[in-house]
Amino acid sequence: MDHFEKTILITGGAGFIGSHLVRLFVNKYPGYKIINLDKLTYAGNLANLKDIEKAPNYTFVKADITDAVALNQLFAAHKIDGVIHLAAESHVDRSISNPMEFIMTNIVGTVNLLNAARNAWKDSFEGKRFYHISTDEVYGSLGEEGKFVETTAYDPRSPYSASKASSDHLVRAYFHTYGLPAVVSNCSNNYGGYQFPEKLIPLCINNIRHGKPLPVYGKGENIRDWLYVVDHARAIDLIFHKGVTGETYNIGGNNEWRNIDLIKKLCEIMDRKLNREPGTSAKLITYVKDRAGHDLRYAIDASKIKAELGWEPSIRFDEGFEKTIDWYLENQEWLDDVTSGSYQLYYEKQYVSR
Ligand code: NAD
Ligand code: TYD
Repeated sequence: MDHFEKTILITGGAGFIGSHLVRLFVNKYPGYKIINLDKLTYAGNLANLKDIEKAPNYTFVKADITDAVALNQLFAAHKIDGVIHLAAESHVDRSISNPMEFIMTNIVGTVNLLNAARNAWKDSFEGKRFYHISTDEVYGSLGEEGKFVETTAYDPRSPYSASKASSDHLVRAYFHTYGLPAVVSNCSNNYGGYQFPEKLIPLCINNIRHGKPLPVYGKGENIRDWLYVVDHARAIDLIFHKGVTGETYNIGGNNEWRNIDLIKKLCEIMDRKLNREPGTSAKLITYVKDRAGHDLRYAIDASKIKAELGWEPSIRFDEGFEKTIDWYLENQEWLDDVTSGSYQLYYEKQYVSR
């Protein structure tokens, strides 16, 4: 018999944000049993969780959320009290070349999970919670002014953001229609260790390391709001425990950067850390064809979560960025491992054939 006070299912726990969240929960809540369900796609890597894999309150289950039978079996085998759902296809460029995977995992997979939870909890929703993790990209693209608030109308413009918007709507529909105790958060761009090097920051770190071009889409003038991943995990912890059922919370770094400025800053720091002549890495900057439908600017107004739950970013960008760069430089083997094999094929298709 389990002696745990609660059992929490985290989906996508072998990915970037998921692994930070699993680590936080396993360490902070020894009284919770944490089940990490992950399909282990190219983006999921159990090496991300090496430090906690033997913890007595941690279990890994390899499963695909598009497999409804597997999800029902999991809910039958464990008395799950809470779900924190992060499993997703997450890279915009991949969604442009292969939208169907995004429809299957992000939409169908989320509905399968909602159905499995609803079915398992049909006698009572007391003490249960379904927490869906989403992105600011569902709100579309901003001009030079303004920020996304929780009531901003959805206007997704990539297959990725459209699939996430769809899943957000379905989670809210299950709350309104069936009373499923759901909560949603929408976060801005995360940065930190363990991010797959197809995303801007780790991709550029890896390319600087190898003296390869740094591909800047379009003019590099697109703006993203960057948040340190550990601060996102802290916000998820808070919302999971204290958020109001049926509500949505925006999470952001209040930290907007034009891509080109961010890359130039990265180049300066990398030159210093690698003892290279100042200006060496910046020579690698290469302007390439823009991403199709490239959203100009994202920016989050996170005043609701600050006012209602007392959350704000704890790590200043300068500090988080240095920590992140140090992490990749100290974990070059991790970078080499995840960029071998099928990643090479992806990279060749994405960048070389332009
Ligand atoms: P990621 O791509 O690093 O990880 C996704 C994880 O989901 C991987 O471990 C993968 O194996 C798993 N997965 C994919 N398809 C699956 C399936 N069919 N069944 C089970 N597992 C599957 O993504 P991430 O950046 O960590 O993002 C996690 C969540 O946070 C996503 O829902 C994403 O939309 C959201 N989000 C990400 C960011 C960001 O900046 N990265 C910002 C806001 C919100
Ligand atoms: P990315 O990390 O893919 O996150 P998202 O598209 O979800 O915001 O990209 C961040 C920004 O950097 C985005 O404006 C696209 C741009 N970008 C490049 O200029 N070059 C690249 O090689 C990549 C991957 C992204």
